[in-house]
Amino acid sequence: MPKLTPFPAPVATTATPISPTTSSGPATSSGPATLGDPKLQAILQRFQRAARSAPQDLQELFDYPTGEAGLRGLGYGEDLLALVPPAVRACYCGVGNPFLPGLPRSGQAVLDIGCGAGVDTLIAAGLVSAGQTAGQAAGQAACQAQGLELSPDMLQRARENARLAGAHSAVFTEGQAEALPFPDASFDLVISNGVLNLVQDKPKALAEAYRVLRPGGRVQLADQVLTGRREACQWSPGGESWAR
Ligand SMILES: C[S@@+](CC[C@H](N)C(=O)[O-])C[C@H]1O[C@@H](n2cnc3c(N)ncnc32)[C@H](O)[C@@H]1O
Repeated sequence: MPKLTPFPAPVATTATPISPTTSSGPATSSGPATLGDPKLQAILQRFQRAARSAPQDLQELFDYPTGEAGLRGLGYGEDLLALVPPAVRACYCGVGNPFLPGLPRSGQAVLDIGCGAGVDTLIAAGLVSAGQTAGQAAGQAACQAQGLELSPDMLQRARENARLAGAHSAVFTEGQAEALPFPDASFDLVISNGVLNLVQDKPKALAEAYRVLRPGGRVQLADQVLTGRREACQWSPGGESWAR
């Protein structure tokens, strides 16, 4: 397994709380797909269903390993797994390991785009609040892990998972990758796991990830790409083949 390296110190830091903003994105942005969009609806419904499933039934909805098996298979080490309880690990449905290129440091701010049930966000929360008491972590705005998610039911599960993990520095916000509801230069590290392949306007989502990144920060994406023939990858209206 590759060795996990610490994430370098940021060039700029701030103690200002990272609160969601009502307007966001570059001035030229034409806005994200609306929830009436059929593809977005199919994706939303699929993940609403995943959020409502009991963790032991999650695997039935995905054609790759989920939960603890997924985490271990993707190289999350014992040091990272120990940051979240087994009940939280069971909710994992990521496709890669966004922490492999480097870990966030204590006191840094991390954004997890498309956080799902919040497993990566909560691992990040454990790392950025390392060495702090619960009171310090809750009161220290710069030491924050933010999860951003499209599905309200996934958000609810992420908040419940934060309670299970005792993660006081984790915050979960509803929104879309293509229009992040955060000010410019808010985060030291932006991660995402299995989400960009679902986003229709990928250039806009990437531009948004870089807009909210502080100078010297890093974007670490884990995702899947099609390497076969494009014709073999027809959109499935029901969303069943979303990952193919
Ligand atoms: C494969 S899951 C990954 C969840 C989580 N990152 C993990 O590793 O367990 C993809 C998640 O992205 C969310 N999602 C899909 N499109 C999105 C978008 N445009 N903006 C924000 N989240 C989105 C889905 O609701 C779903 O929870």
